Amino acid sequence: MADAAQTINTAKTTAENSVDWPRVRADFPILGEQVYGKPLTFLDSGASAQKPQAVIDTIEAVYAHCYANIHRGIYKFSQEATEAYEATRGKVQRFINAASEKECLFVRGATEGINLVAQTWGRENLRAGDVVLLSQMEHHSNIVPWQLLRDQLGFTIKMIPILDDGSLDMDAYAALLGPEVKLVGMVHVSNTLGTIVNIKKISQMAHDAGAVVMVDGCQAAPHMAVDVQDLDADFYTFSAHKIYGPTGIGVLYGKETLLDKMPPWQGGGDMIETVTFEKTTYNILPQKFEAGTPNIAGGIGFGAALDYVANIGFAAIETREKQLLAYATEKLNAIDGLRLIGTAPHKAAICSFVMDGIHPHDAGTILDREGICVRTGHHCTQPVMDRYDVPATVRASFGLYNNEEDIDRLVDGLAKVQRIFALDA
Ligand code: ALA
Repeated sequence: MADAAQTINTAKTTAENSVDWPRVRADFPILGEQVYGKPLTFLDSGASAQKPQAVIDTIEAVYAHCYANIHRGIYKFSQEATEAYEATRGKVQRFINAASEKECLFVRGATEGINLVAQTWGRENLRAGDVVLLSQMEHHSNIVPWQLLRDQLGFTIKMIPILDDGSLDMDAYAALLGPEVKLVGMVHVSNTLGTIVNIKKISQMAHDAGAVVMVDGCQAAPHMAVDVQDLDADFYTFSAHKIYGPTGIGVLYGKETLLDKMPPWQGGGDMIETVTFEKTTYNILPQKFEAGTPNIAGGIGFGAALDYVANIGFAAIETREKQLLAYATEKLNAIDGLRLIGTAPHKAAICSFVMDGIHPHDAGTILDREGICVRTGHHCTQPVMDRYDVPATVRASFGLYNNEEDIDRLVDGLAKVQRIFALDA
């Protein structure tokens, strides 16, 4: 088990802290695959990132050598599995600089994290007359849970608009804040536009108005160092599968003072202290919010993913991804009839675009035959599509394994898309 928990990182860093990026890419076995006889060009890490061998090996080792349920058994395998799973919690705490492991709850993913906050903090604290502010660029998962609750409790949801370049309209935000605002729901990085939001400023303004802040950090956590204490976020959630880890596991960070006062959400094993038919008392944090057998191997694999990313370091990752974004932006801007959607000055490596006379799904289908994986559609952000009056976009999103050649292949693929449509016209 010790071997499984202890990640073997093959990504090499030199003494000068320069990363051997081709070596990093080679750590991801799937990137050596061919699709329709063409090399795989994976540009959909925003939807889900690929996994390094270290993560794959860790998960395999758990199931092959030491799998057992956690927090329950007094036998060796159960104890070791518990230790490895809980070690990930410590890694999460360090990854986001939480004040305590108790503030780091394991959830299925960011969607579950937001639903947990809505159904516990929200149900206890929101009532008719209150306002929840959400940005126009929220993923549906930071809109719908609040609407479900609004329909039961009768509070109001108001939208903070975005500007033409995809930046948040901070003046509109300031104007919308008032004593009736109880919660601000905000994406850290827009999954569609790439916009990086100044969460520290958002929190400070929300707190001055007496509101708490729920941050969707899904697209930020893979790309930049996140310090929840510096951001002063009340709740911050993200999914492991976008940080090169497994699906089915993620994190909800919450300030201990808030989590302590919140009622549990799901009831079941592990979240209780004592149960009688008359009365149940609840476990301490974080288990109070972790009912049932969790994703054990996934949690341990998540730890391996965090080790992997930490070994490379965000200083290097951010620099590399900025280079990729600059290269992609320049190349895409040079294509006639292509319009980038989302051009904010502070952006993560995500490029959404539309092309004259070509539906994004048609472009995506032709690109697929070239081995190029992009996401097309509304990206679970229909209000963003409405804002720009487009039915959908093509989205290329980058990870630490992408390179300039991937972008060149995308550009060549788009030229082919345009040729096919020109012939068709
Ligand atoms: N939220 C993920 C995306 O942006 C699935 O593609």
